[in-house]
Amino acid sequence: MRMLWKNIKGLVGAYESPPAYLRGTEMRQLALIEDAWLAIEDGRIADFGSMVDFPGIVDWSGLEVVDCTGRFVLPAWCDSHTHLVFAANRGGEFLARLEGKSYQEIAAGGGGILNSAKTLQSLSEEALLEDARERLKKVMQTGTGAIEIKSGYGLTAASELKMLRVIAALKSEFSIPIRSTFLGCHAVPEGDWTPETWTNYVINDVLPQVASEKLADYVDAFCEEGYFSVNDVSAFLGASKAFNIRGKVHVNQFNALGGVAMGLEHSVLSLDHLEELTKNDVDALCDHAKAGDGPVFACALPGCSYFLGIPYTPVRTLMDADVPVALATDYNPGSSPSGNMSRIVQMGMVKMKMHPLEAIAAATINGAAAMGLQSDAGSIAPGRPANLIVTKPLEGLESIGYSFGEEPVEKVFIDGIQL
Ligand code: NIG
Ligand code: FE
Repeated sequence: MRMLWKNIKGLVGAYESPPAYLRGTEMRQLALIEDAWLAIEDGRIADFGSMVDFPGIVDWSGLEVVDCTGRFVLPAWCDSHTHLVFAANRGGEFLARLEGKSYQEIAAGGGGILNSAKTLQSLSEEALLEDARERLKKVMQTGTGAIEIKSGYGLTAASELKMLRVIAALKSEFSIPIRSTFLGCHAVPEGDWTPETWTNYVINDVLPQVASEKLADYVDAFCEEGYFSVNDVSAFLGASKAFNIRGKVHVNQFNALGGVAMGLEHSVLSLDHLEELTKNDVDALCDHAKAGDGPVFACALPGCSYFLGIPYTPVRTLMDADVPVALATDYNPGSSPSGNMSRIVQMGMVKMKMHPLEAIAAATINGAAAMGLQSDAGSIAPGRPANLIVTKPLEGLESIGYSFGEEPVEKVFIDGIQL
């Protein structure tokens, strides 16, 4: 099957040989070819260029020519932080917040992550997979072409493994790249557990099983007051390293506890949330970016800021200091019940003052690298799978932020096939 897309208003993120990621100040230089063409063959990108240099069509056999006038073509979104496997919505907690309770109060009363754990523990692996499959199909319809999915709502060894097996099943069912993360320290289960005893149990009893069954590409932990301390998380990350599993950490969502410096020491792949950053945290991130020791992505989750009414991650400051930034949905039933990356890109522009190309870079090339998928996703390049978004006719890429009531995505292609 061959396709030629002509008259593309702007071809975004296309490279002959893509960089692995873009540093903060480079993000605005994301490749953009105005008035472009793109050729797809057997589900892969064959070639692209500017219409001015269009070589013409030599072989018309089986060729479908598509006129993309007015439309932008982008790499499919790369969502590097989700909790897409869960058992039930938590709309009741949202209502309780509208009636005056805080997210933290609800969690302290047995709601929040503990609520999600209860419903997940009682749901079979098959039912969990069925729901997750439908959710994944739905986010793919909105343009997601690569995704990371975490466990963390199990809170028993059996249920954490159940979640990870569901993610493994999704990996084998879907052709898009999927990364699985063992969120071993997400909340302290009810009963006699303390953060320390649960962390030790995870390290000694659960992690070895997860590693031996090769169920996790990454580990994660929630470093926060009332959840896990810097020491707990550090111990978990250290133990995971011994199994060759790198970390991605939830830090500074509500409080700055020193998790940023600790995460950097452990060379995590990404530090996620970062809504509450101290000057020391910002300096540590900037110093690390300047040292050039391999990127640690600052992964901002504006859906969570929007939905919980907490600050937005100061990505402008981070990008100006050359920190590579990613944007992700944090799709989960409690703090960000949406997996729609276009909404996130829009929030990046409207709420975080990102230039359209910065927001798109954060949601594509950097999102891919923030889950180790820089060779497979996040850029348009010859030989790569044609996982692409075609926008509706737009005046400019800023329209994604400006027309905030509109869905910017018109068509999504995975392996060159329209969903
Ligand atoms: O990233 N912060 C920790 N975990 C998730 C959501 C927790 C929840 O279910 O409320 C998050 O926001
Ligand atoms: Fe999260």
